[in-house]
Amino acid sequence: MPASTAYLWHAVSLFDGLRSHAEPMSVLVENGRISRLWPAAQCNPSDFPHAQLLGTGGTLTPGLVDCHTHLVYAGNRAHEFALRQAGASYSEIAAAGGGILSTVHATRAASESALIEASMPRLDALLADGVTRVEIKSGYGLSLADELKMLHAAKALGQLRNVHIHTTLLAAHALPPEYQGRADAYIEQVCDVMIPAAAEAGLASAVDVFCEGIGFNLAQCERVYRAAQRHGLAIKAHAEQLTNLHGSALAARYQALSVDHLEYLDEAGVAAMAEHGTVAVLLPGAFHTLRETQLPPIALLRQYGVPMAVASDANPGTSPLCMPTLHLNLACVLFGLTPDEALAGMTAYAARALGLPEHGQIAAGQSAELCWWAAHSPAELAYAVQPNRLRQRMLDGVLCDA
Ligand code: NIG
Ligand code: FE
Repeated sequence: MPASTAYLWHAVSLFDGLRSHAEPMSVLVENGRISRLWPAAQCNPSDFPHAQLLGTGGTLTPGLVDCHTHLVYAGNRAHEFALRQAGASYSEIAAAGGGILSTVHATRAASESALIEASMPRLDALLADGVTRVEIKSGYGLSLADELKMLHAAKALGQLRNVHIHTTLLAAHALPPEYQGRADAYIEQVCDVMIPAAAEAGLASAVDVFCEGIGFNLAQCERVYRAAQRHGLAIKAHAEQLTNLHGSALAARYQALSVDHLEYLDEAGVAAMAEHGTVAVLLPGAFHTLRETQLPPIALLRQYGVPMAVASDANPGTSPLCMPTLHLNLACVLFGLTPDEALAGMTAYAARALGLPEHGQIAAGQSAELCWWAAHSPAELAYAVQPNRLRQRMLDGVLCDA
């Protein structure tokens, strides 16, 4: 359907990216953009004969933005899940050469087309649950060729499906086996070879690191941030997931778009994020899967006004959970977010975590990236875990398969 078509939703429960509206609303889309939203009580659909009436009732939200995923990889780690259920910890499995490195072996062995084929069902699961925009990280290649292969595969997914894909270079995810005992030399390779190559080829818009005892230390992360800045790439970080290395404050000082996980974040880290406008990306799927007990400091994040995003962290180790609305539910049940906070976290604030502060919102003039759901209210999307509620998904004013 051409983007010049006009569409109308009438008397919908509306979540606009920041809040749920108290009264039923009508939303008009013209020429690919939201042209008007107003109370349904003042709307007579027959006054808009040029617009196709797409639905009456139900719930309309911005398209969901999954701002942190590791969707592209080969193999799976069901055997490690079994080991963890038998008592092994995530860190112990990683130290024994499993964990991220076991996915690195499988991903290195896969061709780009095999990676695309393996990842497509995961992407389709996200789209079927309302995603219109998704970030995908590399990080299971850990060599120049394999990291670029992952990024190419991620970009290709965006050509094959109706979705916007944002790619992030996460070469500093784990130390590859051939660099054992030489972490600084690997970081040098990341900074001097991989970041320039990814930037030059336009394959990544951001750089991410795993700042952790089983990942990379503060000095190493700082080198990566400097290289990212030299090459005009945005900065993101996995930090304070398993311990508190104070990686969030460091990333914030480098103007990171977001810092993600944050279970062990302290008040100084929260203050630094507030000062620099860094988004806190909460990943309740990883918290749930690792049976973590340390909660991220939600009250402090609220108190300091740090925007909170919610993402799936879809990955084979800590969050093999490709259902965005499940993560809305987990963010509410496990972290105590309100349904509106969780929804804002997967729309307006998730877009902000991708460097798109105008996106993820239903407002006049915005590009029409929308989802219409079989739900009585926005809160229902976080309250009930139920597949097949999505009725329509619109990308840039074009109706896609739901
Ligand atoms: O976001 N923490 C590091 N990275 C991923 C896990 C990757 C994996 O276990 O394969 C995460 O939790
Ligand atoms: Fe992650």
